[in-house]
Amino acid sequence: MKVPDGWTLACVGCGRKLHSDPGAFTCPNCGDILELLFSGRPSADELFKPKNASLRVWRYARAIPGEPSKAVTLNEGGTPLPKSVSLGRELGLPNLFFKVEGQNPTGSFKDRGMTVAVSRARESGAKVLVCASTGNTAASLAAYAARADLKAAVILPSGKVATGKLAQAIAHGARLIQVDDGFDRALELTVKAVAESDELYLMNSINPYRIEGQKTVAFEIYEQLQRVPDYVFLPVGNAGNISAVWKGFKELRDWGVTASVPRLVGVQAAGASPVAEAFERGSRKVRPWRSPETVASAIRIGNPMSWKKALRAIEGSGGRAMAVSDEEILQARRELASREGVFVENASAAPLAGLRRVKEEIGRDSTVVCILTGHGLKDKLPASWTRTRPQVATGAKELVKLLT
Ligand SMILES: Cc1ncc(COP(=O)(O)O)c(C=O)c1O
Ligand SMILES: [Zn+2]
Repeated sequence: MKVPDGWTLACVGCGRKLHSDPGAFTCPNCGDILELLFSGRPSADELFKPKNASLRVWRYARAIPGEPSKAVTLNEGGTPLPKSVSLGRELGLPNLFFKVEGQNPTGSFKDRGMTVAVSRARESGAKVLVCASTGNTAASLAAYAARADLKAAVILPSGKVATGKLAQAIAHGARLIQVDDGFDRALELTVKAVAESDELYLMNSINPYRIEGQKTVAFEIYEQLQRVPDYVFLPVGNAGNISAVWKGFKELRDWGVTASVPRLVGVQAAGASPVAEAFERGSRKVRPWRSPETVASAIRIGNPMSWKKALRAIEGSGGRAMAVSDEEILQARRELASREGVFVENASAAPLAGLRRVKEEIGRDSTVVCILTGHGLKDKLPASWTRTRPQVATGAKELVKLLT
């Protein structure tokens, strides 16, 4: 299908410009991934003051490809940005905020991109929407495909998908296919299958329409804070989201809506941290890892497809990539839940774990946002947290005794 008016599809490798969406969203010239470029320059008024502010992601229709009236939507976006009540003080960062993306319709940030990409897929006449997934993309795709009355198939690494996410994909009626390997292999097979069949339509984040929806989190953070934060910490797996967040903030600056961009800090799990490794080596190339392993199953990825975009985001924003241990991730998950009242899945706690490590390097006056990407109900709790058994009460007197 023809690229929408006002937009160009360009290869991040060789720069070739395409006039229509290619199968599997890879460059026909060099095989690299693609990005959508917008030729418009919306003003702050145009971007932030549409008539119906409750449109959430589609509120920014001026700057995303697609028509709100034709969108497949669950009113995604518009997530809260509470200020920290406890951890910020402890870390010496009184202006710490949490962007709670778990409050999206299927419980993760993926919904922002899925509304745009599924809308595009339906308009293109796609029949079967497919993705490889560590869980959240599968849950989100399944829901939006159900709403669009399209078939969805999700290709999953065996035994590594959190049960809550599996339940979502099943409930929404997606076809589940397991690959006896990790996410990287599942994605490799999915991309090859899509390239070979006209009936399959790729919904992973190398689909650049996903990125256009996901970038709206940057617009929202700016609108909610009424300023550009100094730092944004977020987890990195396949590196689609850090690319999207960067695109959003960069566009605001390029359009003259804002004067600066935040430093982006991409946080990976130590057992799956090829981007952090490349950053620490000072390299412009990310070397894939063969057997990534971490308790943060959503970001258990060794060969991030959007690594070029991620390094560009880190370099362009003056940010960094870093790795944190599984223990630090679990500690951060617990702190968010027990001290801030925000329940997140393991991967989503990585940004706080990263922030804790580098807090001394951040000025006290800085405004810091941690993007908490997915809801805590999706992931099982570590066994050590559930050892406490509830006490038993059989009558009111006994209950009072237990409570006082
Ligand atoms: C909860 C959660 N956080 C972070 C990520 C990482 O996003 P990306 O793969 O775009 O880097 C994912 C990806 O599946 C996720 O599910
Ligand atoms: Zn190319």
